[in-house]
Amino acid sequence: MSFWQPLTFPANEEELLERLSRPGPQTVELFSRLEGGLLVLGAGGKMGPALCLMAQRSLQKAARRDFPVVAVSRFSNPGVQQLLQRHGVQTLQADLAQRRSWAQLPRLPYVIWMLGHKFSASDPPGTYWVRNVCLVRELEQLAPCRVVAFSSGNVYPFLAPEEPAATEQTPVAPRGEYAITVWGREQVLRHLAATAGMGVCLLRLNYAVELRYGVLVDLAQMIRQGQPVPLSVPELNLVWQGYANRVALACLEQVQPGRAWVLNLTGPERLQVRQLALELGRRLGCPVNFSSQQGARSLVADASQCHRLFGPPELGAWELVDWTARWFQIGGPVWNKPTKFWVTTGEF
Ligand SMILES: NC(=O)c1ccc[n+]([C@@H]2O[C@H](COP(=O)([O-])OP(=O)(O)OC[C@H]3O[C@@H](n4cnc5c(N)ncnc54)[C@H](OP(=O)(O)O)[C@@H]3O)[C@@H](O)[C@H]2O)c1
Repeated sequence: MSFWQPLTFPANEEELLERLSRPGPQTVELFSRLEGGLLVLGAGGKMGPALCLMAQRSLQKAARRDFPVVAVSRFSNPGVQQLLQRHGVQTLQADLAQRRSWAQLPRLPYVIWMLGHKFSASDPPGTYWVRNVCLVRELEQLAPCRVVAFSSGNVYPFLAPEEPAATEQTPVAPRGEYAITVWGREQVLRHLAATAGMGVCLLRLNYAVELRYGVLVDLAQMIRQGQPVPLSVPELNLVWQGYANRVALACLEQVQPGRAWVLNLTGPERLQVRQLALELGRRLGCPVNFSSQQGARSLVADASQCHRLFGPPELGAWELVDWTARWFQIGGPVWNKPTKFWVTTGEF
């Protein structure tokens, strides 16, 4: 299944959002078939706005006016809510950690779950458990038919370079509270599939990237600022965020009622941090220093099932390295949202 059209380098943020939210023909066809409406929970973060816009652009191309896309988030950044509204996405500002918020949500057959709690500096005890595990149970009130839930490749074991990357069949070995509670959320969703009949897709994502955040932005920032690049986690996977969102939307139709289906979602390349940094340094014209001994194990996943089903990502890792360096050279804006890809303890 061909998923993509050639994408050209974006000259500014507006063009970047256009590239990130451009639907392929299959996404447009998908939205000409779906009935009922889509609720996107946690839509205000790094990935949600472009996902909602991709869905909305598909509906426009399919000349559909009868299918609402409803983006729910706290919208800590009000500009995000305004952007979505300008493009015809319905928005609902709500703190889903408050039980009463759930009563305001519309009951729609399709749900994409994007909520997640990863970074914890001064949280009260148990925050990971409440946010990542308990909250998802509230979905039962909405009784959706199909749920696509973002999960994480962090549930897999750290692997040595000679070991094969984790497939969906690899036994999980979550390290640290974030990974353990993401695994816990998967388990609650499996329970909902089995007991409430929902079709559930669990997307184990490894590092979505675009030009304002992600592992390549982290590396480029370190290199530009002359900071040593950590090699504690020597390998990683990454994937163009536009592809990750396209796959999430496509999965809405793939899930079967009453079943939970795990899918790895990342790019095809198993990448060495050292090589990525050297290549970025070369393109940025900056020397690269490394801070630590190379670590022995990494989180790497095999997403060949995803690529077989939906085609490969439209942009490969080295093209993204090139785009990231060019983005920095034109002074494109970046967000201060480090991935902390170098953490080995599972404590973020
Ligand atoms: N990006 C990646 O590379 C990556 C990799 C692996 C897994 N994932 C997972 O994929 C999902 C989407 O990724 P992302 O990068 O877009 O995550 P994100 O930036 O953390 O976005 C999630 C959004 O959910 C909203 N939210 C959090 N708690 C909420 C609450 N109590 N009530 C209402 N809204 C709430 C926040 O929106 P506001 O800003 O509106 O407050 C937040 O920005 C997350 O679960 C993430 O953990 C992402």
